[in-house]
This record gives sequence, structure tokens and C-alpha cells, in this order.
Amino acid sequence: MHMHSNFPSQPDSGWYHDRRYRVFKQAKAEIGHLLGYFEPRHSHNGHMMQTEAGKEVINFSGYDYLSLTRHPDVQQAALDAVARFGSSAGASRLVSGETPLHQALEQRIADFLGVERALTFVSGHGANVTTIGFLFGKSDLILHDAYIHNSVLEGIKLSGAERRSFNHNDVQDLEEKLKQARPFKHVLVVVEGVYSMDGDAPDLRAIVALKAKYDFVLMVDEAHSLGTIGETGRGIAEMYRVPPEAIDIWMGTLSKSLVSCGGYVAGHRDLIDFLQYNCPGFVFSTGLPPANAAAALAALDIIDRAPSLVEELQDKSRHFLMQAQAAGLNTGTAGGTPVFPIYLDQQAAILACSALRESGVNAFPIIYPAVSKNAARIRFFLNRAHSYAQIDTTIQLLADFLSSVTEPDLAA
Ligand SMILES: Cc1ncc(COP(=O)(O)O)c(C=O)c1O
Repeated sequence: MHMHSNFPSQPDSGWYHDRRYRVFKQAKAEIGHLLGYFEPRHSHNGHMMQTEAGKEVINFSGYDYLSLTRHPDVQQAALDAVARFGSSAGASRLVSGETPLHQALEQRIADFLGVERALTFVSGHGANVTTIGFLFGKSDLILHDAYIHNSVLEGIKLSGAERRSFNHNDVQDLEEKLKQARPFKHVLVVVEGVYSMDGDAPDLRAIVALKAKYDFVLMVDEAHSLGTIGETGRGIAEMYRVPPEAIDIWMGTLSKSLVSCGGYVAGHRDLIDFLQYNCPGFVFSTGLPPANAAAALAALDIIDRAPSLVEELQDKSRHFLMQAQAAGLNTGTAGGTPVFPIYLDQQAAILACSALRESGVNAFPIIYPAVSKNAARIRFFLNRAHSYAQIDTTIQLLADFLSSVTEPDLAA
């Protein structure tokens, strides 16, 4: 059911004169109805979900990689936290103190990653914006992978630093750019542990090796790599057997494998001390709700106790990739992670998602402007609880749909 505004319809607001708004309005009118954007869901966002119409569908649109959001320990921890501390942290932690849960979570994140300290923020996106915006300034250079997440780009904008991108996962291009980085005060290099649109990972060992030749600060965003890669889910440093202290700024989210909400920055105790007393998005923001801290802490405990969950996810990821490739689908550079793009032209991606929805599979197309016009795709996030049969059925449905449509169908 859709809510209707009580306000009488109003004359054009000024937004209609913004070109971006007009482009968006037109696209929404043309394709919005096919995609189910903002449709209420009547269950958790797991390997299955219940739609607005009450239908149970296979779901590939959530980040709960290890299938923990309904784990009894996670739910109980959140309930206990609400019962004991209430629903809110109540104020900024700097000026009103914090709960033992905040401290336990931050220590647990640091221990899990093998670094000295960690600090949590109420949003993963916000953690990148405020950390980069606070630590870097006009006399600095920030080099980032061409496919870096929007939150990093927003942080760079805020910092006022000069921004240059290097080709996706191209260490040689990064080195070229580092050679040209002479007059700057600090140079920051930012990469992701797993690229959320492409499902691939950078060669972290090669990037760390560049630190011996060039003076730069290295930041890794582990939003999609924590809990998913590395033998025990400790992320990209574990996967490459790189010592965690070789990375200056670890960043990650609580919202994906840790089934909560929020973000963290981790590393040397001086970095965290500096941020804890000064970083605007931490200092001037109410702390993480205790229930969110408790849920993330419980999830981290489970991953630590049961690395077999990570192994199962990785097995199913390999299966997905093999089946997709065998069906002739284009997975690009994806591999070794639970994120799978299937590249199609934009019109085909939209129609295929609509057809999948009709057949009981929920996955979303990624289209312009989220990616460039010639890089549209359907993105599948794997969940540990997906069965091998559900993966096979989905790939078969997609392959059948694509072989049933012809070029003229797509152009129509
Ligand atoms: C690479 C990356 N960094 C940061 C974020 C922001 O995290 P959050 O969704 O927890 O705000 C995301 C979210 O999808 C992401 O993919």
C-alpha cells in the first residue's frame, strides 16, 4: 500500500529547473515501474524474502553474506542491549560517555583485524566521508581506484585535496601516478577490499610493496571483504597474507557481514586517538545505538567461533561463478568473492530483472548513473543460506530469459 500526501498538489518546485532532476524524472517514469524500487518487504533481507504481495522469493539483494541477521545470538544480544541501555546512545560519546558494548565492539574489531584500535561511527558511508574529510586537506593528493565507492569520493570532496584516479585494479597505473605525486604534503591511496559493483579484489600485496618506494598513506575499505574473503573471514590482509599494520587506515562497515548498521575505522592507536577526540562525524554525532553495537559484536563472535561459515560462503561463491560461466553469462572480473555482476546492456538488465521478479527471484540492475552507460549489469549478492539448487535455478532462469529475447525485443 502506498501512502499519499495530505498536501494539495503544488505548483512546480524549483527542482524541476535542475537538469539532473528532469533527467531523473524521465528515467523514473520510463523504467521505475519495472524495478520495484522502495517496495516494502515483509521479512528480513535474507536468502529468501517476502514481497509486498506476500510471495516468498529467492533474494540476491541483501548484504547479509553469512546469513546472521536472524541468528538467535545476534537477536538476543540486540534485545538485551535495548532492555539494559535503551534504544539510543543518547548523545555524542565524547561528551556523555558510552556503554561497555561500544568499548567491547571496538576492541573486538581491532583484535579480529590484528591492529591496535578501532572506532565506530553511525554510518559506513559517513565514516568514509568524515575520516577522509578530516584527515586530509588542500595540500594533499588522494589517489583512488577508478571504481571506488561514492563515500570515498564524497570524503575527498570535503577534504579539498587534489583527486586523481588510477585504472581499476591496475597497480602499474597507480605507480605511474605515484611517480607524479611530488609537490604534495601527504599522498593517500584508497582501494576497496572487494569492489561492490564488480566482485573483484585488488592485488594488495603489490600495492603494499609500493610503500617501500613511495611515501604514501594506504587506506582499504573492507565493506564487502570483512567476513567474506581470507580463510577465516578476516578480509583482504588475510587473503594476501599481508601484515595488517602495513595498511595505515582500515575502514569497514557494520552493515554487511556484521548485520548491524554503522562503520568503523581501525589502525594504529595514535590514528584512533586523533579521530576519537577530533573527527567531526564522531565528535558531533550521537553514538552508535547500543543494540547496533551488540548485534555487530555478536556477529563478530560467531564468525570468530565458526570459520566454517566463511568456508561455506566461499564454496557457494565458487559454485555460482562456475555455473554462471558455464551458462555463458558474462561475470567480468568477478571471482573469489560473493558479489557477482552479470554484464548486459542496460535495457536487457532491466527487462531481465523484471522477468526474474516474475519468476520469484529478486536481484537489482545497476544502471547509469551508478555505473557508466556501457557497464550496466545485474548484481547478485550471495548469502550463505542460498542452496546450491537455488543458485542453479536462478542462473538457469536468467540464461533462459536471455536466450528467449532477441535484439529487436530489447530495442522495442
Ligand atoms: C565499499 C563501500 N564502502 C562504504 C559503504 C557504506 O557503508 P554503509 O552502507 O554501511 O553506510 C558501502 C555501502 O554499500 C560500500 O559498498
